[in-house]
Amino acid sequence: MTLLDTKAHWERIYRTKAPEAVSWYRSHLETSLALIERAVDRTSASIIDVGGGESTLVDDLLARGYENITILDISQTAIDATQKRLGSVAEQVRWLVADITQVELESSTYDVWHDRAVFHFLTEPEQRMAYIRQVVRAVKPGGHVIVSTFGPEGPTKCSGLEVVRYDAESLHDEFGARFRLEESFKELHQTPFGTTQQFLYCYCRIE
Ligand SMILES: C[S@@+](CC[C@H](N)C(=O)[O-])C[C@H]1O[C@@H](n2cnc3c(N)ncnc32)[C@H](O)[C@@H]1O
Repeated sequence: MTLLDTKAHWERIYRTKAPEAVSWYRSHLETSLALIERAVDRTSASIIDVGGGESTLVDDLLARGYENITILDISQTAIDATQKRLGSVAEQVRWLVADITQVELESSTYDVWHDRAVFHFLTEPEQRMAYIRQVVRAVKPGGHVIVSTFGPEGPTKCSGLEVVRYDAESLHDEFGARFRLEESFKELHQTPFGTTQQFLYCYCRIE
């Protein structure tokens, strides 16, 4: 898929589906939230949610007092919907509509990089290399990287697109030795349609 196709795909998904009607929907991203809170308890910590979509993670981070949040997504429609849901507090958040493999992020900026169900869409090695270059550039030394993908027994497609499934070892291998693996585990996500999907979470610190 070209970049334009990818963007068009996600705009169409978010224009045609209600927030609670997508397979990855959860009312709260409890696991992500718990990992972020454990990684950084300072509310001044700088956090980026890559491919945040319409998830309520930003609402929950704001409610916990985090003051330095960036939400990035390729879909303007998703960002608009999230901003609308938040109302005036949306002004406290930095918003970026961009492709994570292409955007120019400031260097050494983030204490926490969070991604739930975005990296697994990068099916080409060059895309994955571009993504990892972004993490290395944008996360502060000693910063925290939380990435969640479909696990080895997860679906082979998400939102109609092919994905790469990972176990902790294969995901960590993609990122390389500079990423110190702190924790990894699998989790069964209950979709709004009553089915389950295996997710893998990896939490690393960057040297
Ligand atoms: C499966 S959804 C997950 C959304 C959210 N992280 C969650 O857990 O609810 C994937 C998200 O990644 C975004 N996305 C897909 N490819 C992207 C890319 N290359 N750069 C930035 N965002 C992307 C999509 O627009 C979508 O919001």
